[in-house]
Amino acid sequence: MKYLVTSIKGGVGKSSIALNLAAHSGSQYITNDITTSAIEEVIQIPINKKRIPAELTKLENTVFDLGALSSLLDPKIAHAASFCDVVIIPTRTDPRSIAATIKTHQLIKDAGKPIVIIINHFKDNKKHDAARSQLLNALGKVPILAIRETTLFDRVSGDGIEWFLNIQNVKGLYMLQRTAEAHSVVYDRITAIGRRGQ
Ligand SMILES: Nc1ncnc2c1ncn2[C@@H]1O[C@H](COP(=O)(O)OP(=O)(O)OP(=O)(O)O)[C@@H](O)[C@H]1O
Ligand SMILES: [Mg+2]
Repeated sequence: MKYLVTSIKGGVGKSSIALNLAAHSGSQYITNDITTSAIEEVIQIPINKKRIPAELTKLENTVFDLGALSSLLDPKIAHAASFCDVVIIPTRTDPRSIAATIKTHQLIKDAGKPIVIIINHFKDNKKHDAARSQLLNALGKVPILAIRETTLFDRVSGDGIEWFLNIQNVKGLYMLQRTAEAHSVVYDRITAIGRRGQ
């Protein structure tokens, strides 16, 4: 399975979701973000490259975390959308994020790939529900999943992918284990949507 996580908006949780999805699905994590932390397993694509290098397009199991450089899509994003099985657009619930998510969806949909939106990083269910209806109004029937505000992502970026994979063995972290289970359900649903499109 080849996943593409993208948005023209910064700070919506692309890297957090992409890293955890890669860990969950045993995929290689690949990004165009030069500020990514020193996690060893990361492959970074230089900013000046217009296309995803051929050897990376051939890998079986990959998660591409591709942020935009401006309100224009990085050309690598369109290239990745052409060979990935499913596109994931994380969004927050504020108006600018929703507008950027709608724009990203419009830019990426020509690739003809299944697109999943994740409403991410919210505490208030009302905000989630409002964001969801705005997105459905603007985009029609699109799969929308949710990931609440959590300390899990901080733990993964601090302690690494291995930690996420072993979370079920960590004692005394009952709530985080529950969160990891909820995230796994989200990642499995994305994978199922990607398989259906293949
Ligand atoms: N569900 C969440 N709960 C709590 N914190 C979150 C959640 N999602 C993201 N964050 C935090 O929000 C910040 C931005 O997330 P992240 O770096 O994943 O976004 P991004 O879209 O990759 O940003 P950029 O565009 O800068 O690459 C990080 O500090 C991350 O830990
Ligand atoms: Mg990022």
